[in-house]
Amino acid sequence: MKVDMEKMVSLCKRRGFIFQSSEIYGGLSSCWDYGPLGVELKRNIKEAWWRAMVQEREDIVGLDSSILMHPKTWVASGHVDGFADPMVDCKECRQRWRADDTKDGRCPDCGGELTEPRMFNLMFKTFFGPVEDETATVYLRPETAQGIFVNFASVMNTARKKLPFGIAQIGKAFRNEITTGNFIFRSREFEMMEIEFFVKPDTADAWLNYWLEERFNWYTKLGIKGENLRLRQHAKDELAHYARSCYDIEYLFPMGWAELEGIAHRGDFDLAQHTQFSGKDLSYFDPDSNERYLPYVIEPSAGVDRSALAFLLDAYDEEPDKDEIRVVLRLHPDLAPIKVAILPLSRNESLIPMARDVYADLRKCFVTQFDDAQSIGRRYRRQDEIGTPFSVTIDFQSLEDNQVTIRERDSMKQIRVPRYIGELKRTLEAKLSGEPLDVLPPGGSYWLGFEG
Ligand code: GLY
Repeated sequence: MKVDMEKMVSLCKRRGFIFQSSEIYGGLSSCWDYGPLGVELKRNIKEAWWRAMVQEREDIVGLDSSILMHPKTWVASGHVDGFADPMVDCKECRQRWRADDTKDGRCPDCGGELTEPRMFNLMFKTFFGPVEDETATVYLRPETAQGIFVNFASVMNTARKKLPFGIAQIGKAFRNEITTGNFIFRSREFEMMEIEFFVKPDTADAWLNYWLEERFNWYTKLGIKGENLRLRQHAKDELAHYARSCYDIEYLFPMGWAELEGIAHRGDFDLAQHTQFSGKDLSYFDPDSNERYLPYVIEPSAGVDRSALAFLLDAYDEEPDKDEIRVVLRLHPDLAPIKVAILPLSRNESLIPMARDVYADLRKCFVTQFDDAQSIGRRYRRQDEIGTPFSVTIDFQSLEDNQVTIRERDSMKQIRVPRYIGELKRTLEAKLSGEPLDVLPPGGSYWLGFEG
């Protein structure tokens, strides 16, 4: 079901996914803090990406380069001259706009007359060392990509890689956007997951197609509905200064289709520029064709925060439940912040020791939450709303037969299984990996008892 942004912002705040930054001081616009559940979700997204893009592949290696780089980097990369948006000011209300957002030629807020567009560079500047003058100016990186390009030769040589191969990096980037908004969709500080994939020039188009498909499928495998995703090719006039061509994977957000990930054909732009500005030859000797050339680059570049927003929106569901509405985040188990909730049926003191035992065992294996406040029905709903795939309930019967109930978030179906860590761990692992709930472990049985 479709959920509006306001509802999602409120759920995220209420449940501890995402808070406004510096809220006690009135907030800093477009900066966001990830709370206890948000940080788990974000880590899970990054881990899923790293696993699929780096660890499970033999042709991509990782890197973690510094945010501050030699200022010449950004001259070579074209960002000092070219990374700018046209900006206009309203002569009446003084509001500042991206020229693109004022297509009617008048201020979208008050209808006032606008100034002629001026270019506004999006890089944040700061000072390096104790002297605050022009010679000490450095930039907060606006993309992680340049950290990869300047390390291209060192990584290739030390990792003993031949083309085609890629370098992947996850990290923060900063852009002094003129207009921000739509919750965590566009903020001035954000996190990226980028791959620079280096290929022989005459194979670049085929690799671009490969990466379009690979990256599209990554989102659907993690649960995003196919109908909410599409590929869109950039028109010539929207291409970044380094791109020969570019496609966006777009998600149908509440405000419309918008970019989740850009997949750009950067040609040899960056390696050629760094060769020229650094004086270091970054060409590649191809032992298969016995020739030397500058590799071409295909770049899948994804936003972590945008992905988090898309996964949350896509997972949101509401269904009638007696006289109420059940809110469920149907997050893929790999992304769910909490995998298993341990819920004693009540606070009755005879139940607590076994519940605590099971909790102590399971939290060594899964991200687990213990909750004994309020009625069992309310606790199931709370876990549904934060996307916990399974709950383990300890009831009075458990004290007799040493079995506990596993309850599935999506179907609300329940099975009874032995409470011992070996069985319980194996069963939950299998269910979290997609095994249907009705495959029972030895000694397990169906349970059609209480729920709410
Ligand atoms: N590195 C691609 C981008 O910054 O969008």
